[in-house]
Amino acid sequence: MRDRLLAAEKVKAIDWRDGTLYLLDQRILPFEETWHPYQSAAGVADAIRTMVVRGAPAIGISAAYGIVLAVFDRYEAGGDWQMALEEDFDLLANSRPTAVNLFWALNRMRERLYRLKDHEDPRKVMEAEAVAIHLSDREANLTMAQLGAELIRKHQGNLQTVLTHCNTGALATGGFGTALGVIRAAHIEGMIERVYADETRPWLQGSRLTAWELVNEGIPVTLNADSAAAHLMKTKGITWVIVGADRITANGDVANKIGTYQLAVAAMHHGVRFMVVAPSSTIDMNLASGEDIPIEERDGKELLEVGGQRVGAEVDAFNPVFDVTPADLIDAIVTEKGIVERPDTVKMAQLMCRKRLH
Ligand code: MRU
Repeated sequence: MRDRLLAAEKVKAIDWRDGTLYLLDQRILPFEETWHPYQSAAGVADAIRTMVVRGAPAIGISAAYGIVLAVFDRYEAGGDWQMALEEDFDLLANSRPTAVNLFWALNRMRERLYRLKDHEDPRKVMEAEAVAIHLSDREANLTMAQLGAELIRKHQGNLQTVLTHCNTGALATGGFGTALGVIRAAHIEGMIERVYADETRPWLQGSRLTAWELVNEGIPVTLNADSAAAHLMKTKGITWVIVGADRITANGDVANKIGTYQLAVAAMHHGVRFMVVAPSSTIDMNLASGEDIPIEERDGKELLEVGGQRVGAEVDAFNPVFDVTPADLIDAIVTEKGIVERPDTVKMAQLMCRKRLH
């Protein structure tokens, strides 16, 4: 299965080559495929803030490479370079607030820094750590894809019509995708009849990115307005809603793209199963519940304009870009450590004690 999954992979968003980070500009996809080079932590922080790169795991991986670029600069400048590096950690940590993968990756880079031995070259060691974060995210996605597909088979073996929200594919991760990875694996196994992709207002991750990834791979996809989701559940035989996550708390609450919560409510009403797919780097055991998750609010312009063209009246716009789905609306959280069905505090704690399955 792993080989078939790898063969299906067509897109990537992050490339680290010869000491430079290249990011595919997701603001202009699918119309233009433009890669930008980055050689400083400040540049990478700006790319995360302005959403050149987006998606929880992709943000974390980019931030790790941002630290590598900072180590190159600071170490070569000499002096107390480790102290100076704190400025870069802060810059990257302040780029976006909700996806915990960003802070998880920065912590892991900081821990590696603290463990540096005198004989080690910090540039090489930190680069290797960022590459390891990148590769292990991709591996986690391959594992989750298989686990999620097995879960779908376990509940209903025949052809499925599924609904997804936002973009959780290769573009949002170190490769392959989380929720979209499960959909890919289920498609390879002949279990997917059709994917409905929410357009995901206001940034249009669904219509611009998810639809593009699925069309490129020949997976049958139909785009729908976010507000059509409950109607689709009632009329189109949807069996699963499959989404990613930006932060999962110790009790199993899930922050994800705005609109996810109302999908879960509608899914519960219609008897549609609700699956969240996320690596353990998205789980924040330091927060007891979703109420503690900082929810990013972006410029109201994202709502009032489409493609730079004003579409709203002269009015204030409230633009929270994530919401929190309570654990009791979730059927399963799929991670690379295994699956938690009907998540709660005890099951989440047990999951985090397990080893990765790959
Ligand atoms: O604002 P974005 O595009 O970064 O939000 C992305 C999402 O909400 C995704 O669903 C989530 O990060 C999971 S991506 C594997």
